[in-house]
Amino acid sequence: MTLSETVGAAFEAAFPGGESSQIRVVPATDPKFGDYQCNDALKLAKKVGMKPRDAAQKVADALAALEGTPFSKVEVAGPGFLNLTVSGDWLAAQLAGFASAQNCGIPQRGAGKRVVIDYSSPNAAKQMHIGHIRSTVIGCAIDRIYRALGYDVVADNHLGDWGTQFGILIKGYRECLTDDERANLTVANLEKCYVLSAAKAKEEDGVWKDACRRELVKLQQGDADNVALWRRFIEISIGEFERMYAKLGVKFDTYRGESYYNSMMPGVVERLVKAGLAVESEGALIVNLDAEKLGVAIVRKSDGGFNYTTSDLACVESRVAEYAPERIIYVTDDRQQLHFRQFFSIAAKMGCKTTLVHVPFGLMSYQGKAISTREGNLIRLDELLSEAKRRSLEIVKDRGGDERLAEQIGYGAVKYADLSHDPATAIDFSWDKALALEGNSGPYLQYAYARVCSLLEKSGRDASGAAERRFVVSTPAEKRLALQLLEFPGTVVRAADAYKPSVLADYLFQTAQLYSSFYQSSPVLKSEEPVRSARLELCALFGEVLRTGLGLLGIETPRHI
Ligand code: ARG
Repeated sequence: MTLSETVGAAFEAAFPGGESSQIRVVPATDPKFGDYQCNDALKLAKKVGMKPRDAAQKVADALAALEGTPFSKVEVAGPGFLNLTVSGDWLAAQLAGFASAQNCGIPQRGAGKRVVIDYSSPNAAKQMHIGHIRSTVIGCAIDRIYRALGYDVVADNHLGDWGTQFGILIKGYRECLTDDERANLTVANLEKCYVLSAAKAKEEDGVWKDACRRELVKLQQGDADNVALWRRFIEISIGEFERMYAKLGVKFDTYRGESYYNSMMPGVVERLVKAGLAVESEGALIVNLDAEKLGVAIVRKSDGGFNYTTSDLACVESRVAEYAPERIIYVTDDRQQLHFRQFFSIAAKMGCKTTLVHVPFGLMSYQGKAISTREGNLIRLDELLSEAKRRSLEIVKDRGGDERLAEQIGYGAVKYADLSHDPATAIDFSWDKALALEGNSGPYLQYAYARVCSLLEKSGRDASGAAERRFVVSTPAEKRLALQLLEFPGTVVRAADAYKPSVLADYLFQTAQLYSSFYQSSPVLKSEEPVRSARLELCALFGEVLRTGLGLLGIETPRHI
């Protein structure tokens, strides 16, 4: 029985027929008041017309009468709160259950359910830069968290692989690159020919621009040469993205770019018109969303072309038909909020029952300015990762660490620096913050993990899991750590529900701090038995929670640093 259920049963005994399933026990806001608290007597008192403190007292009496109570103390406080202190025996039994549970007790509430997560999704033919970290690492952490909860996750990279830029690119490829560059085509070369060609397309006479447009039309009409070139551009782009993803430990199930939905767009628009949702306006087809204060969404431009909205509508239909997901989660920057609200609303009107969720994150800027080629403040992701590795290598090589270890630490730092922020907050990039190795940082947590590993190795504890794990919780420091560790499964659920990996990052940092105060106040290896073994078990459990939690954030946990 969970604590909420136990206290719920006492509510039921005191006030039969109440809504005991609604009763919630939550961690105490201040350890001074106990370990947990329940504030539901206030609501109930109102319903039954009793003084809140009297109602709370009645529940407290019922709790005292319960057999095998987890509580060593129950107090009525303030206007009618229940402050609950659990017994050391109960805690020890909980820890033993937690320690034997699979994957640190993360509930499998997603079993049998599928979610599609659409993240990273960069535009093809460009190199990834620091602005791409956020969608990639936030999306990847949400992906890992949902998988850990038992969901069947389809990670889809919705590449920007279609649009006017391909006319510019094709023309640029043919005329702005050397033979050698064409033969050894890289994303860097593609970027270069795009910049050159786009500049020429701005020339007064419009000759170059028209030529680009003709190439685009040929591509759209299926011209074999242009389609082959376009395919090559996409392949090279994906190859380059995958080089970054490999470093970051990110894996996609599919790379369905916008182009995948091209053939489905006319059908979508036809159905919108039939349903009376899309109407003509100045030659374009629009869906009026004024009633929801979402303005007007164009679904077919006046030149007959489709746009981002049409493509995302086709994409939802296709995903729903193919995967029948319970929800689809989109991770993009917050400038796209209106776009998502609009097409979510249209999809619902078209009968889509799947839950559609946009996880918007704050934009990354650099030196206070939006990151853009034009601002010249673009730091390539590859460069950031190399620098992260270089700085870590300098530190670990003195201790015999190798390049692999430097990558684990450097990339861990980069990911954690992002994930420790609430996704909604904007980030102004700084090298020092992004690569922080101390304080509330990835490496701090990785180091805490490595220290526990070496403590356990030194202790001679049998880590095979053969020995029965016995927990004893008696000192305040042990208790605080134990209570915190037990919050892990619930924290993973909260992070998933809020789509905020930062909830988990905060938790892990706090846990590491509590561990460190426990460790400072409580000798482990030098203690006598049975305290020594019991404390070692607590340390081991901390290590498991830390490793599992960092794993969900996509951060590796080397055993030796
Ligand atoms: N390619 C877009 C960008 O770079 C993100 C795509 C997000 N996914 C989607 N289905 N719209 O901002």
